[in-house]
Amino acid sequence: MSLLTVNDLEVRFNTPDGEVVAVNRLNFSLQAGETLGLVGESGSGKTQTAFALMGLLAKNGLVKGSAIFSGQNLLTLPDSEMNKIRANEIAMIFQDPMTSLNPYMKVGPQLVEVLQHHKGMNKKAAFAESVRMLDAVKMPEARQRMSMYPHEFSGGMRQRVVIAMALLCQPGLLIADEPTTALDVTVQAQIMALLQELKQDFGTSIILISHDLGIIAGLCDKVLVMYAGQTMEYGTTDAIFYNPSHPYTQALLASIPRIDSHCGKLISIPGNPPNLLNLPPGCPFQERCQHTSSNCQHSQPELKTFADQRQRACFWQPESEVESEVESEAKP
Ligand SMILES: Nc1ncnc2c1ncn2[C@@H]1O[C@H](COP(=O)(O)OP(=O)(O)OP(=O)(O)O)[C@@H](O)[C@H]1O
Ligand SMILES: [Mg+2]
Repeated sequence: MSLLTVNDLEVRFNTPDGEVVAVNRLNFSLQAGETLGLVGESGSGKTQTAFALMGLLAKNGLVKGSAIFSGQNLLTLPDSEMNKIRANEIAMIFQDPMTSLNPYMKVGPQLVEVLQHHKGMNKKAAFAESVRMLDAVKMPEARQRMSMYPHEFSGGMRQRVVIAMALLCQPGLLIADEPTTALDVTVQAQIMALLQELKQDFGTSIILISHDLGIIAGLCDKVLVMYAGQTMEYGTTDAIFYNPSHPYTQALLASIPRIDSHCGKLISIPGNPPNLLNLPPGCPFQERCQHTSSNCQHSQPELKTFADQRQRACFWQPESEVESEVESEAKP
């Protein structure tokens, strides 16, 4: 049984200029222990998807659809129930690590407080458990660090504290929103390696949000590629990474720096994502797409499921698929 099943998730915001559909009929599921990557450029709806699941949407937001987690619909739970789930069963690492930390309070008491409040532990046990968790995220001299303020930590160390805090109550699901964007590449790699280890040690399911497919590929089992709030492509990481079949996924992949690239040139995707207040009819990616046709301007491509369970919303068909269709037709 799935740990989380999201059906037709929709997030709309009322703004003075009109309605913004930030997340548009998203469907995905996550098994226990599985890691799903949500990838897309800035503004594609990744964070709002996470906020909708966590019940953290802004006041002008409206959510529709369902998100069944351990048999309960997260989207309709009362606040009191959602508060319990947020602490104990689903934890989130926010885009900015300081969102989760109080800058005026030493790190130790912040961790201890979480365990006292949510697990009812006494101070001594909560202290010992907090040190153990800081050790688990490979914080050097964990015990001494308990009496330091967040600003005394480097960016990478601060992110380790935030990960430790998120895992304190041993949640079944961790949502990590761009956990490494503010960090340099070496520290980024260390944090990703840490998440990989924690995933194995604790068996936590993870939704990893990133604009970088390279980061996603290292950790995730499945990938959902979003654009303008919609699913463009969804499938196993291998399928998406080695055989991308949506022009947007292909463009995203071409924009990742690769060690094996011979030309050494980064190809950025020309143009910008569309204004959500004024989406063109048809496919939202049409204006930037290499394979656009008149179809794309008139109607929205449906999300179709293909042989390898991959889903894609596009009228265009990659050559490999056309060939395999011809081959299978030619067979007696
Ligand atoms: N309270 C709000 N009112 C109106 N629009 C909003 C509100 N919150 C978010 N949005 C819009 O929703 C869209 C999706 O935002 P979201 O934060 O999910 O993007 P994202 O994919 O996480 O981008 P990034 O990579 O920059 O973090 C954006 O166009 C954003 O402007
Ligand atoms: Mg975001």
